[in-house]
Amino acid sequence: MVREWDPRNASSAEIASLLDTLNAVLAADLPQDPPWRESSMREYLAEVMPGERRISWVAQAEPAADGSPGAILGHVHVLLLGDIGVLEVLVHPSERRTGLGRDLVLTAARRVYQEGFQSIGVEVVGDTPAVAFYESLGFSKEYVETRSVLDLSGVDWAELSEMATGISAGYHLQFHPGGPPDELIEAYARAKAEVRDVEDGELRPSSYDPQRLRDSLDCLHRRGMKPYIVLALHEQTGEVAGLTEVVVPVQHPTRADQYDTIVVQDHRGYGIDRAIKARMLMELRSAEAELTEVQTWNAQANEAMLKVNAELGYRPDREWCEYSIDVAELVHRLDAGR
Ligand SMILES: CC(C)(COP(=O)(O)OP(=O)(O)OC[C@H]1O[C@@H](n2cnc3c(N)ncnc32)[C@H](O)[C@@H]1OP(=O)(O)O)[C@@H](O)C(=O)NCCC(=O)NCCS
Repeated sequence: MVREWDPRNASSAEIASLLDTLNAVLAADLPQDPPWRESSMREYLAEVMPGERRISWVAQAEPAADGSPGAILGHVHVLLLGDIGVLEVLVHPSERRTGLGRDLVLTAARRVYQEGFQSIGVEVVGDTPAVAFYESLGFSKEYVETRSVLDLSGVDWAELSEMATGISAGYHLQFHPGGPPDELIEAYARAKAEVRDVEDGELRPSSYDPQRLRDSLDCLHRRGMKPYIVLALHEQTGEVAGLTEVVVPVQHPTRADQYDTIVVQDHRGYGIDRAIKARMLMELRSAEAELTEVQTWNAQANEAMLKVNAELGYRPDREWCEYSIDVAELVHRLDAGR
């Protein structure tokens, strides 16, 4: 049975059951990825940025003979932002190939259509059943990135410490656990605005203006995701010349996520990229006792970034793709197939 579901008032048993399904999916599709923990899972599912909405549905098994509620075997949510709905679907491996995934997508797509949105986007992990699934529904591939993973046990810390200090005179690095300090928010947002063109292909708008940046940091904290920032300050102007962001989610604190790394155009060629990333790894090593890995996503065309990542020890893992489809087309196609 598929029904609309609100994580804010769902029972703890339902949240735990959804987490079990997520971990069964990870074990089947991405066995090298760490399982998720229950900490802040409800907030992770419920919290959104101002102006965004997330609508969720679950597929739940029938109640047991003793009346206890059935397990959550499938889940779909759609995040409505701009003119796009970003979809995520999960089906427990024991329930696959029965049409449940298709039903969940149709339920969400109908709502996205009713809400007047144009298109649906989805992140699809390479070498998993999701590729054939979305292609069978008519989605097309828009953008491909490579996920790479760094195993911290293989890092040469002495070499990294040299990289962290190998920056030209006139710049200095700062480490900010929790996010940039308020007095640097404007300069920080200006640096992020520089990469607008590069990020055009991505589903999630980046935070260009100071208020959006504050909102996005707040939202991360509420979802149990702790941001860490290293930035390079240009001493002469006080401008943020470069920045790198890593988030440690309380749901999987052994594996951190690398977010943006930016070196502002005028400040390229001074060793900033290498230095900020190396300093970040050194700081994380002491700040996050459980951390063993960091994952990052890069466009295949971004050769400079891929080169620095390879020097730091990142190993390419798999493709991570964005697919999309026109909502009306999807609804018609799925309705016609019933
Ligand atoms: C993708 C996913 C939602 C599909 O769910 P599902 O319930 O098995 O999908 P359906 O039964 O509705 O399949 C619909 C169609 O998709 C295609 N399809 C789905 N899985 C497929 C597979 N493993 N191989 C080939 N085609 C597949 C088929 O055309 C299928 O129709 P058919 O069974 O009549 O041939 C499910 O595999 C899943 O949850 N994957 C994990 C998603 C994810 O986000 N992973 C990231 C890690 S958390």
